[in-house]
Amino acid sequence: MAMITFKINRYNPDDEKRGHFVQEYQLDVPKGYTVLDCLNDIKWKLDGTLTFRRSCRSGICGSCAMTMNGVNNLACETQALALNCDTIAIEPLRGYPVVKDLVVSLDPIVRGLMAVKPYLMTKTPPPTDQERLQSPEEREKLDGLYECILCGSCTSSCPSFWADKEYVGPHAFLKAYRFVADTRDECPGEHLEPIDDKHGLWRCHTIFNCVEACPKDLNPTKAIAELKKELVRGKLG
Ligand code: SF4
Ligand code: FES
Repeated sequence: MAMITFKINRYNPDDEKRGHFVQEYQLDVPKGYTVLDCLNDIKWKLDGTLTFRRSCRSGICGSCAMTMNGVNNLACETQALALNCDTIAIEPLRGYPVVKDLVVSLDPIVRGLMAVKPYLMTKTPPPTDQERLQSPEEREKLDGLYECILCGSCTSSCPSFWADKEYVGPHAFLKAYRFVADTRDECPGEHLEPIDDKHGLWRCHTIFNCVEACPKDLNPTKAIAELKKELVRGKLG
């Protein structure tokens, strides 16, 4: 058990006069408590107005992504005592419009995702007697791609996104490559063409913040490099 001070960014759209401010809460934090457990305690015992998003509390839904002591991560997977400090600063994910307190708008995440057509596209009719099959080796190519939970931590950490709000974003590029790399998808150009522009792949400057920020240890920068190769191959081939 340790006493921790939480410094939490607050914002209420109904109180524009006050604007954004930091509010402090003190909490006795038992061993095993995640930051999400702490936020729940603050909300349920100290201040019911504190607003944050959460759902699965198991690192699956991506809802509780936020910035803790300057690092993007999932609150439900971050042990509070493991941060090893008596003060924890909590902010909403950077770069996205703040809706209230720690809740950000998901519009930029959805807009980027929709741009890459995040679904399997085919030209040939499906087999009549079975699903479209893959070999184990073909399926293995999707490891490191399908696990994305769309938490938005990667795009929030990206300076290219901070500078260009139309930037599609690493979360969407990783998703695009998940389908381009899928042997059952017969329309890679449909995923690639919309991101072959200045708000797309070519805005990435290989800064690697997205790799650092991903709570699932995925590598959007590698996916971006593979997509660029596909585009160059298509243009030269
Ligand atoms: S790639 Fe990682 S950080 Fe980005 S949205 Fe997916 S899970 Fe979150
Ligand atoms: S609450 Fe679902 S990932 Fe944290």
